Amino acid sequence: MAEAPGDLLPGPRILLGPGPTMADPRVLRAMATPLLGQFDPEFTAVMNEVMELLRVVFQTQNERAFPVPGTGRAGLEAAMVSLLEPGDRVVVGECGRFGLLMIEIAERCGATVVPVRAEWGHVLEPGAIAKALEGGRTRMVAVVHGETSTGVLQPLEEIARLARAHEALLMADSVVTLGGSEVATDRWGLDVAVAGTQKCLSCPSGLAPITFNARAGTVLEKRASRIQSNYLDLLQLQRYWSPARYNHHTAPTSMVFGLREALRACVVEGLEARFERHRLHGAALRAGLGALGLRLFGSLPEALRLPFITPVMVPEGVDEFRVRQRLIQEFGVEIGAAFGPLQGKIWRIGTMGYSARLQNVLLCLAALETVLRGEGVQSSAGAGVAAARAHYTRAGALGRDVADSLGAPGIGSH
Ligand SMILES: Cc1ncc(COP(=O)(O)O)c(C=O)c1O
Repeated sequence: MAEAPGDLLPGPRILLGPGPTMADPRVLRAMATPLLGQFDPEFTAVMNEVMELLRVVFQTQNERAFPVPGTGRAGLEAAMVSLLEPGDRVVVGECGRFGLLMIEIAERCGATVVPVRAEWGHVLEPGAIAKALEGGRTRMVAVVHGETSTGVLQPLEEIARLARAHEALLMADSVVTLGGSEVATDRWGLDVAVAGTQKCLSCPSGLAPITFNARAGTVLEKRASRIQSNYLDLLQLQRYWSPARYNHHTAPTSMVFGLREALRACVVEGLEARFERHRLHGAALRAGLGALGLRLFGSLPEALRLPFITPVMVPEGVDEFRVRQRLIQEFGVEIGAAFGPLQGKIWRIGTMGYSARLQNVLLCLAALETVLRGEGVQSSAGAGVAAARAHYTRAGALGRDVADSLGAPGIGSH
């Protein structure tokens, strides 16, 4: 190399895609904490705090609640490779990109996969899961809680009841939901729940929080064959995240510090307040998009939609890529494209974690209005921002988070 590359100084971005979201500055600060050795008592104390915080956020009394190293899919893969043995029957719900991912992972684990499908943009019907369960003895039902590709929120309680009645484990992919909407692991009867750090938790990607109950623990302990993966072996990982401190991988110390801070931020904010904040900003965004004449994708009622991922139809004749490109170039705003059958047809706008704030919503609406006008989509000037502001006003939220971020009133008056 003739010369070393210059300083790492990317342009500022407002991340309003389906993840990664903007990292909470507190998380970034925590990640800059000097490193500790992984068996240093100060680090093992942090590990214990992370487990305790995860139990709060997953709403569980499970002893097992810890992060698997790797991104969200590492958690899904750890659960499947560890809980399934070749030939086990698995019922997997599929109505989007991440259902397809679980089908693929289960197949690679050698399981016999029985897919239960619904159209993208719809929820899975419990009746269809029941029918699949009646087809044979099933080890696991795997369902996506928040389908990021379509913006659908899948109710889980009824599916959990069915799985239990058939002595199958229920695994929920809560990668996009944890920290943004309720994941009531114990109350809903989830046996395994897997999350990610880069969505509503507003931490960089790199860990996959997981929790599982004693039923899943028994399946793990009783398996006949050796777990095929060493890195994703939940038996070893759970011993590492226990007083045994079994020496598995080298701790990704900075990520663990970051996750601790992200979870602490959830607890400080309060889970219900946090869910309400996600509902507020998603609803304000949707009010603004409607005023710009944009249509949302899907026809499900609000209760079955993710509050913080808004799938919006690309207007007829608009070049969806050029719009996203101009949003970044001119406004520094990133929104998401789509997968599979929805590619080119919808955008996905995320208002998650630290990204879920009034300033970002108003900027996104103003930016979209400008860019879409350049594409020939007309709307009355400022209509999107005005509708979102009206929503915030009705909710009594206008000015609230500005005041919060400025600190106590009176600062600067001396
Ligand atoms: C619902 C869902 N499941 C799984 C994943 C995969 O997670 P990761 O990209 O962190 O491996 C994602 C990521 O977008 C997701 O949204």
